[in-house]
This record gives sequence, C-alpha cells and structure tokens, in this order.
Amino acid sequence: MTTKFLLPETALPTHWYNVVADLPNPPPPPMGPDGKPVTLDALAAIFPPALIEQEVSAERWLPIPEEVRDIYRLWRPTPLHRARRLEQALGTPAHIYYKNESVSPAGSHKPNTAIAQAYYNKAEGVTRLVTETGAGQWGSALAFAGSLFGIETRVFMVKISYEQKPYRRSFIETFGATVVPSPSRETNAGRAILAADPSSTGSLGIAISEAVEVAATHDDTNYSLGSVLNHVLLHQTVIGQEAIKQMTMAGETPDVVIGCAGGGSNFAGIAFPFLAERLHGRSSTRFLAVEPASCPSLTKGEYRYDFGDTAGSTPLLKMHTLGNGFRPAPIHAGGLRYHGMAPMVSHLYELGFLEAKAYGQNACFDAALAFARTEGIIPAPESSHAIRAAIDEALAAREAGEERVILFNLSGHGYFDMAAYDDYLAGRLVDVEYEPQMEAVAV
Ligand SMILES: Cc1ncc(COP(=O)(O)O)c(C=O)c1O
Repeated sequence: MTTKFLLPETALPTHWYNVVADLPNPPPPPMGPDGKPVTLDALAAIFPPALIEQEVSAERWLPIPEEVRDIYRLWRPTPLHRARRLEQALGTPAHIYYKNESVSPAGSHKPNTAIAQAYYNKAEGVTRLVTETGAGQWGSALAFAGSLFGIETRVFMVKISYEQKPYRRSFIETFGATVVPSPSRETNAGRAILAADPSSTGSLGIAISEAVEVAATHDDTNYSLGSVLNHVLLHQTVIGQEAIKQMTMAGETPDVVIGCAGGGSNFAGIAFPFLAERLHGRSSTRFLAVEPASCPSLTKGEYRYDFGDTAGSTPLLKMHTLGNGFRPAPIHAGGLRYHGMAPMVSHLYELGFLEAKAYGQNACFDAALAFARTEGIIPAPESSHAIRAAIDEALAAREAGEERVILFNLSGHGYFDMAAYDDYLAGRLVDVEYEPQMEAVAV
C-alpha cells in the first residue's frame, strides 16, 4: 500500500502549461481607464518584458528556464499523498489524495512563481522588487527568491496579518527583505485609507495599491504580484503537471480536483493541467474552487471589469468581484481576503468548466483538525478551505456508497498560523457572512 507517490527530480516539468491555447476564446483583455485594452508599454513600467509576453501568450507550452528548474529542485517535485488515515476516520469508500505544496522553503505553493518572477526581473537588471502579502506566504516566497537572486525586496503586509503573525515578519526579514504594515504612511494610497479609517486592518487590495505606487514611482523598482495574473497562474501549473504523473502512478483519475481560491493561483496550478485532459475529451473530472463565506468573489461577486486594487491604480480586469472598495472581515485565512478572482479562473467559471463553494471559517478549522489529527500536517487556514470541501465530497461519496477519487491541493502549512488555531480551540472564531453593503468604502 503506497502512501506517498514520489517523482524523481528528472520528472520535474520542463514547461509551464497555458490553458488559453485549449480554450475556444481567451478571457477579455485588461482595460485602461479610457476603456481601451491596455498597451504592453503601460505594463512595462512595473513588469519585465518576459513576464508581459507570458501574460498575453497563446502558446500552449512555455519553457521553464534551466536556472529556475535548478532552484525548483530544492523542493520539487513535491509529494502526492493518499490520505488513507483521513479516509478511515471518515469511514468513506472515497480515495482522497493531496498534493503537498507545504514542503517548499516558504511553506506554500508561492515560490513556484516567486522564483520565476525574480529570475526574469534579474535578467532585466532590476535591483528592487516591491509586493504585497496577505497571509505572509507570498512575502516569504518573494523574500526567499530575492535572496537567491540578490534583489532587494520590500513587502507591504496586510496589517491584520502583520499583527496575527509576528513570526512571518521575522521569516521575511531573515531572508533580507523589509516588511511594512499596510495601510502605511509611506504611500498616497496608504495615507488616503488611514485618513478615512485610522483603524483600518488593511486588505490585499490596499497592500497592492501601495506596492504598485512604489513601483510606478521608482525607476529601479518593479512590482511583483503573488496571484491573479495569467503569468502567475501559468507558473503554478507545475503542480498539476506533477500531480497527473503521480495520479497515473496511483492508477487513478480524479473525479474531482479541489483547491482553495484567493486570487486563484494554487487552484489554477493544480486544476488547469487536469482541465486540459477534460478539454481534450480524456476525462470528465470536475473542478471545485473553495472560498471563504466572508469574501465570496466567485459565488457572490459580479462578473465585470474592476480594479485589481483598492485605490484604482491597476488596469481594469474582467473578473468576479465584490467591488474594489470591499473590506473583507479579518478572518484568519489572510490569503483568501481578496475582492476579486483571477480573470482566467473567472472566465472558465463563466464558461461552466469550474464549480465554486464558500465556507465559514469554523467549518474549515473543524476540517483542518480532522486532517491534522490523521495526516499529521497542520494546514494553512487558506488550505483548510480545500480540506473542508474534500471532506464533504468524501462524505457525499459515503452517502452514495461510491468509491470516488478526490484530489485536493494542500497549498501550504499553518505553522506560522498558530494564533488562528489558538482562537479556534478557545471558541473565539466568528463566522462572518458576506454582506453586500460592506462594499461601500470610497478611497
Ligand atoms: C497557503 C496559501 N494558500 C492559498 C493562498 C491563496 O492564494 P491563491 O488563490 O493565489 O492560491 C495563499 C495566499 O496567500 C496562501 O498563502
């Protein structure tokens, strides 16, 4: 009985997979404030040309540079586990598998794109990168990547996470990066928010505004985004490509592939390579994106053009959005507190290829404990959303008496999130439902 399906380093993917090549039509393009598609020149102020090319590419396979693959080898290929003990505890005939992205240096899937982004920026002579972080995982990943490529990194960290996770800050600083709680007084965007709401706990949208502003006003500085954009989703497809090989080793095809969804990158990373199988008629796998009930962009948001940030300084993206002024409640899954969803994920959702579900945080922590007490890994609060959905799928299989195959992405571990577990164990966690009137914040 195999519990871990392991690939040798020689099986590391050589290319990233671009789902656009297999779709009848690409998602609608980003727009400028004038209502016209943004020019590539406009993006060049904050991104290197290679990433802009990837952003708009229609090629199916994009080569992964050897130097990037060489760094991936530090932790990739990641293991795929069969969660036999969880299956037993649930008494389900379902087979539950999870791809373990928590084994990366930063503890999540985020280095898959951080390494690539740092590589392309370094190749253009960029010496400084600035970014946002919600959970702290993305800031940690970019700090790690910056340290390998000798790039100075500055991270605007959502204030509530900065306060909830002091050791994430220490982690980021250990890799030589600097951390600023957001909203801050360093930027016009941050000062405007603080003037309107001095006690603001921040959001990913605000932190993005601050980081974009710094990048746009400094010639030596580029911006780096940890999710949402096509090139980020693309870099994450190493997850699904490896998982396809590992599921083949297990002799199974997933009936459902599940990922939590903040901006959509880990979900896309595991789902898109499997979706290619379905688009080519080789499987009938379902795909399920899981989001928090308090920030349900896919299940309750509108599909329309909106800004990617709070201050309105990014291009307009066609996506499922709760509105760029939406203030997400300070739930512990900081990486899922984003008002929008990747345009590519939104587009596929509109086309009917994806399903979505939202859960309150207590239900997710219940699932996290069931997983920790059987499989031995304390999951990130973000990943616990995928676990909740996987457990519910396994219970439905038990109800139906069917041996369904469930695969979920364990996007990260929760070892810096113990304050969240403390709150859960002490019964202090509040479930916040989405209220549309919470949108009303002007900056
Ligand atoms: C562990 C973990 N999972 C998931 C996410 C959500 O991001 P995405 O939807 O881009 O995967 C984050 C973001 O910070 C994260 O840290």
